[in-house]
Order: sequence, then structure tokens, then C-alpha cells
Amino acid sequence: MSLLEPIVEIKNLCKSFGKKKVLHNISFNVYHNEVLLIIGFSGSGKSTLLRIISGLDEPDSGEVILKTTHLGMVFQGAALFDSMSVFDNVAFPLINQNKKIAYEQIKQKVSEKLRIVGLSGMENLRPDELSGGMKKRVSLARAIINDPEIILYDEPTSGLDPVVSNIIVDYILKLQNELNASSVLVTHNLNVIKKISSRIILLYDSKIAWEGTSEKLFSGDNPYAKQFIEGAKQGPMVVIKE
Ligand SMILES: Nc1ncnc2c1ncn2[C@@H]1O[C@H](COP(=O)(O)OP(=O)(O)OP(=O)(O)O)[C@@H](O)[C@H]1O
Ligand SMILES: [Mg+2]
Repeated sequence: MSLLEPIVEIKNLCKSFGKKKVLHNISFNVYHNEVLLIIGFSGSGKSTLLRIISGLDEPDSGEVILKTTHLGMVFQGAALFDSMSVFDNVAFPLINQNKKIAYEQIKQKVSEKLRIVGLSGMENLRPDELSGGMKKRVSLARAIINDPEIILYDEPTSGLDPVVSNIIVDYILKLQNELNASSVLVTHNLNVIKKISSRIILLYDSKIAWEGTSEKLFSGDNPYAKQFIEGAKQGPMVVIKE
């Protein structure tokens, strides 16, 4: 597949919850082997958009054309099953998809994915025995268990300190290279945005308010981009209705 060929085409997506319009006529592509960042203030519809791309939620209208069936998702909060071991959490999508898969094959795959996220040998631990950063890495391992061609990340660094956030971003970039995958990453974290340096979509008022690169985001030329990086209450985006 060419780098300029989209792996996902999103066309005129609309989604409302009751009277609240969350996404209105959203269209964009995700290209092969790119990281696309989705940013926007709380409630701007980022998680809703990811859920629709992943097929967990249905749009009211519009379409998502996915060129692959191999998709992985890292949920906001690690969303691990607390009563299950790391092994069972990571293996879950594999077993769920193929009930007849051999135990040896599961074992080998889980061990390979845990190695990629730096958690070799942690199979028997339970989520409550792990730090926040380790939990996020387990959720990364689970997201890649089926060798996805596209990975959707919802706030993968939220609640983590800057050093651990950096480590997570390094793993995301490593997955990008090792799996040759495309990624869609939702984040508020300015350090993450700086470090990943890629194409960005800013959601506001159910639409794409601004689209550009990390460099452009920080250059301050656009009032939406400027308000986002400054976290200012004043600006074109009404953040808190007073
Ligand atoms: N299942 C649902 N039922 C009703 N309303 C919903 C549902 N899911 C999301 N919403 C509403 O849609 C809007 C967008 O929510 P969403 O979770 O997509 O925002 P977000 O950009 O991910 O926010 P955050 O940065 O806080 O995670 C919010 O107003 C939210 O209340
Ligand atoms: Mg969200």
C-alpha cells in the first residue's frame, strides 16, 4: 500500500446524543503508517469519534471506510479486567475472536507482545499489582495482540507523570515502526503533541475547527490552535459556559 493511500476514510460523520450534536459532517482520512492526532477540549467528541471508527458505536449518518479488519484500540483509562491476570487481559481479544486457538500459540503471542511493551514475564500479575504506566502498557499489548494495521489510542498518557508519558509515547512510536501500523491518537497532552510531531485535527463545536501540523499548532498563527495550547478561557472556543 502506498503511504499516500488512506487506510481509513471518514466521510460526513454525524452523531448526536439526544438533542446534543457531538459530531457534524466530520470528514478526514488516516493515511498508511501515519500518526494522526485528534485534540480538543473535554466533551468535544474525541472518544465518540474513536468509538465510531472502531465500530463500537454507530454514526447517525456518514460513513467510515476501513481498509483493514485488523484494528486495535487502547481505551481512555486502561480498561483492564481487574479480576483477570495480565496474561488473560492481553489474550482476551485473541480468544474472543478465535475460540479454537491453541494454548501454545496464545502463550507465544502474549509473551511476544509483552516483550514489545517492556513487560516480559509479568503474565501472572493482576492489574492491582501494577502502576498506572504499567497498566497502560498492558492495554497497549492487548491492543496489538491481533497485529493491527491501525491502532486507536484514547488519551494513552492521561494520569501519568511526564517521564512515564514519554515512555508510553516511545512505545507508541515503536509500535508504529515494528508493526508498520497507522495510529489515531487522542490527547490533550502538549508534550505528547510536541514529541509526536504529526498531522493534527482539532475538534470544536462538533466540527473540525483547525487542521495542521504540530509545528503549526505551536506557531500561534491560528486563534483556535493558540487558545488550545494556552488553555485560555478567552478565544474563539467557548470552553466554560458561565
Ligand atoms: N453514550 C452517551 N450517551 C449520551 N451522551 C454521550 C454518550 N457518549 C458521549 N456523550 C456526550 O457526547 C459529548 C462528547 O463526549 P466524548 O466522550 O466523545 O468527549 P471527549 O472529547 O472524549 O471528552 P474528554 O476529553 O473529557 O474525554 C459529551 O457531551 C458527552 O456527554
Ligand atoms: Mg474522551
